[in-house]
Amino acid sequence: MSLSLSNHPNLPSYLNPADLGPWATFLEQVDRVLPHLGKLSVWADTLRRPKRSLIVDVPIHMDDGTVRHFEGYRVQHNVSRGPGKGGVRYHPGVTLSEVMALAGWMTVKNAAVNLPYGGAKGGIRVDPKQLSMSELERLTRRYTSEIGLIIGPERDIPAPDVNTNERIMAWMMDTYSMNVGATSTGVVTGKPITLGGSLGRRDATGRGCFVVAREAMQRLGMEMKGARVAVQGFGNVGNAAARVFQENGASIVAIQDVAGSIYKADGIDPHALTAFLARREGTLLDFPGVERISNDKFWDVDCEVMLPAALENQITADNAGRIRAKLVVEGANGPTTPQAEDILLARGAIVLPDVLANAGGVTVSYFEWVQNASSFFWTEADINARLDRALSDAFRAIWDLSQERKLALRTAAFVIACTRVLEARELRGLYP
Ligand SMILES: NC(=O)c1ccc[n+]([C@@H]2O[C@H](COP(=O)([O-])OP(=O)(O)OC[C@H]3O[C@@H](n4cnc5c(N)ncnc54)[C@H](O)[C@@H]3O)[C@@H](O)[C@H]2O)c1
Repeated sequence: MSLSLSNHPNLPSYLNPADLGPWATFLEQVDRVLPHLGKLSVWADTLRRPKRSLIVDVPIHMDDGTVRHFEGYRVQHNVSRGPGKGGVRYHPGVTLSEVMALAGWMTVKNAAVNLPYGGAKGGIRVDPKQLSMSELERLTRRYTSEIGLIIGPERDIPAPDVNTNERIMAWMMDTYSMNVGATSTGVVTGKPITLGGSLGRRDATGRGCFVVAREAMQRLGMEMKGARVAVQGFGNVGNAAARVFQENGASIVAIQDVAGSIYKADGIDPHALTAFLARREGTLLDFPGVERISNDKFWDVDCEVMLPAALENQITADNAGRIRAKLVVEGANGPTTPQAEDILLARGAIVLPDVLANAGGVTVSYFEWVQNASSFFWTEADINARLDRALSDAFRAIWDLSQERKLALRTAAFVIACTRVLEARELRGLYP
């Protein structure tokens, strides 16, 4: 078959929908929460069916004069509580199923933290590291024009996710603005500060991981000082989380990224590692003073906190039994399969679910959007304090419900969030 599957022939595609993939995980999580939703569960199909899924063809001229087509998506899972909100991912593994699942988790996340948003997500199946800067710009601009049909500051607001950043948000904002004929800063968040971005946004997701972990550790009687933390993924989320944990007394004993895994019993300095990687002197494996370990061994590392902050489906039934941490903090979206979560919970570990643990990014994205709408900007201290309050409050409500009803934290977060979403659904009624 010579369709556009040719780049990655084994991946599911809308041309070949053989596999439900990550969307199946989301559906299973919805099924787990339904028994706890009382009468609202009659609206369950609202959660099982994304409201709108747009699949776009993204053709661009390559620098060598050829034309290549890429598969792009934007899914608005639910907009009952406000405009769609969620990141855009550039990755060779992006599928419609994955974007649907990520959009569903955004619906739950935004409602869990009580942000006035629905859930959305986007992505392009591409390895951006294979593109030149000008190819990346053309790809971003064409994709933004294609999804321009359904995005906008009051309709759906994209943001960075895996392999997308401030630079790409600036191109998206410019393309959308050129198409509508007016500068529209509020169409995306995670922008550079000079284009209406918010102070504190870059580190917000990682900082949020720390805030909810701190709250959990207080309740579990765990000390932050000296706590050993293993971090998978050293990008936007993992890097910031590692720095904030270390600044608050924890020790980062192991880090894994796409290049491999490193270990140091008395702690890796994430600031020094960040500076080392920025100097492009090598990969994480070349960082001086650390021991290289296999990616498999990473899961055996002795630690109190395990922070998966890379991709989904990393903690599976195969490795969950080996993880020694008391606390698993899901910096990534969907890093733990439902079967793996059962194994972790059965041995008494606590899993801080993605819809709470990584909600710091979208919370400060919300602050950015509010600042754009009012053209009035806040200080970083103000933003960090508001972020801390928003996540501590969300944590408390989820923790208290989990204690009261003897539920896993993920189920409790889903109960609170899905109740909000389905109440909004019911109150709005069906149109027409
Ligand atoms: N950026 C945000 O604000 C934000 C917000 C909420 C959730 N998330 C989620 O956090 C996760 C990471 O996002 P990010 O923005 O930090 O992405 P990023 O692109 O900045 O970093 C990803 C990191 O994961 C590593 N990685 C990739 N594949 C890997 C593999 N197979 N094994 C080990 N490491 C691997 C990369 O080397 C990199 O260090 C994603 O699941 C994303 O959806 C991000």
